[in-house]
Amino acid sequence: MAREPDDLEWLVARVLASGKYCALHPAVVRTIGAQELATRGSLKAAVKATKGRLHQIAGAFLERTPPYSAWLTALRDAAGDTARIRAICLEALKQHASTRERLPDLERFYPAIFAALPPVRSVMDLACGLNPLAAPWMPLVPGASYLACDLYADLSAFLGAALPLLGLNGVSGVCDLTGALPPWRADVALLLKTLPLLEHARRGAGRDLLHMINAPYLVVSFPTRSLGGRNVGMATTYTAQMHAIAAAAAWRLQRLEFTNEIVFVVQKGS
Ligand SMILES: C[S@@+](CC[C@H](N)C(=O)[O-])C[C@H]1O[C@@H](n2cnc3c(N)ncnc32)[C@H](O)[C@@H]1O
Repeated sequence: MAREPDDLEWLVARVLASGKYCALHPAVVRTIGAQELATRGSLKAAVKATKGRLHQIAGAFLERTPPYSAWLTALRDAAGDTARIRAICLEALKQHASTRERLPDLERFYPAIFAALPPVRSVMDLACGLNPLAAPWMPLVPGASYLACDLYADLSAFLGAALPLLGLNGVSGVCDLTGALPPWRADVALLLKTLPLLEHARRGAGRDLLHMINAPYLVVSFPTRSLGGRNVGMATTYTAQMHAIAAAAAWRLQRLEFTNEIVFVVQKGS
């Protein structure tokens, strides 16, 4: 159905006006909105379908806007007290479904992954959610750089202020990984539980991103059960996908298994 250019502007403004999506990167709303406008019978249906897809890729993981300024105040008040900082981060990690699911493994998750890596002085956490708040559990070189991005502007602003309070040299940004990658380089890139979302937006988008990331090591993970808790053979499917991508590029793979997640440590090149 032919559409006026104004229809897309109207749709984007309408979606961004809703409390749940007001901090989302407009580029992702525009991309998905344009696809939905091209196939839906009415503007109203296109807005509804766009919101539904944004829920699947982002809203479903963050049920409500976190109390970012209260967390920052608490972190500032806890300066120098490692145990308190960890306790604040732990509470915050529960607010994003993705990090919440990882909590049963938090103590062993990063030590196991980093054991497969050379010393890490810089990390790039792509589509990070609240995962940068797990940095106190990561065996990083002291004063390491932590580069983090996600779709949400308010999350990015919070992380930009929070990372230095965790003793890190932090940089944060807003990104749409189906469009462009921040121009960053790091010792290791984390892409945790996000590849299937990118593949859903465009077939091949996840694989293309892995090639474009400027880091010698990638840590790529996949959920092994759906958000609703069902195990639907996801581990087998994702393992096959990662093996195919790595075999085609002659990358080395190491596979680690956790309670709700499988992790691949990928060495690009030799
Ligand atoms: C399953 S969560 C994973 C979060 C984090 N990596 C973790 O494992 O704790 C997916 C994350 O990807 C983000 N996201 C989804 N599509 C994205 C895109 N196109 N560009 C950047 N971030 C995206 C969402 O906002 C969400 O925080």
